Amino acid sequence: MLEKFKKINLGHFPTPIEHLKNISQFLGGPNIFIKRDDCSGLATGGNKTRKLEFLMPDAINKKAELVITIGAVQSNHARQTAAACTLLGLKCLIILEQRLNDPPESYMKSGNVFLDKLFGAEIVLCPKNENVLDYSQKIVQDLQSKGTNIYFIPGGGSNEIGALGYVECLNEIIKENSKYNFTQIVHATGSAGTQSGLLAGRKYFNCNIPVTGISVRYDKTTQEEKVYAVTKKACEMLRCNILDKSEIVVYDEYIGPGYGEPTEGMIEATKLLAKKEAILLDPVYSGKGFAGLIDLTKNKKFTKDDNVLFIHTGGAVSLSAYEWAFNK
Ligand SMILES: Cc1ncc(COP(=O)(O)O)c(C=O)c1O
Repeated sequence: MLEKFKKINLGHFPTPIEHLKNISQFLGGPNIFIKRDDCSGLATGGNKTRKLEFLMPDAINKKAELVITIGAVQSNHARQTAAACTLLGLKCLIILEQRLNDPPESYMKSGNVFLDKLFGAEIVLCPKNENVLDYSQKIVQDLQSKGTNIYFIPGGGSNEIGALGYVECLNEIIKENSKYNFTQIVHATGSAGTQSGLLAGRKYFNCNIPVTGISVRYDKTTQEEKVYAVTKKACEMLRCNILDKSEIVVYDEYIGPGYGEPTEGMIEATKLLAKKEAILLDPVYSGKGFAGLIDLTKNKKFTKDDNVLFIHTGGAVSLSAYEWAFNK
């Protein structure tokens, strides 16, 4: 069934799985491995490449002239969408939501924002007093009324079509699992498409490796609902069994003061991975995701007997926009 959905190759797959030998030793806990989706190839890589491989053919099929999407100012999804549009000859409009209270200029201008522009996307900043969904729908309707054919991609590319990218990712993991015998998959969860794809993949491929999402924005209940909604639609599209809500595992203890706000755990995890493995995490997603993994190890949720696979979903491009957080 998965083969029935149109796909355009945009990245370098399968991404490698590496053993984090130094970190595993340092933590004295489980054997930790990392799936390098940060090396997925498109515009410095990240988890949106896989989603866009399914979303972009849908846009082309629907004869879109303009792709519109939304995200936070330092959205990796926006950057990768801008790059995919450039590659495929489509125009791209990005509407950026200002989620941080008082960000420094570097946050507003460098990292992903700089690259969005380099890839030729038009950028609109949603005013702070407006809801980004309402604001973007006004723009979509206005342009549609003028005759523009628009393909709207939801934040993070997280709908049932984008989630197919992570059904494929799980398939890559399953194909290599006889070498590793993974007992846990851990990753950062935000707009929910990554976790939904992995969970739909569990149903589709009949795989029972548990998937743990470390929330970077919403509380546990809200995030689990978001994950369930997208997973259910993906399962329906794939015509496989629908997951049970009990299969969704989300921890919300590592968000800190809010989405995109630095935490001590994120800074510790980012420094640790840089110094011990020469791997760059990011301040918004994978840094908090790995901080969760470290804490769950310290709290004996993951033990010496576990083989934990951390999916590195990318995002290091925004490190330069967060230098201030590391210099405190
Ligand atoms: C680097 C990175 N990691 C993880 C995520 C979270 O993935 P999802 O939005 O599919 O939950 C995102 C989403 O924007 C991201 O940019």
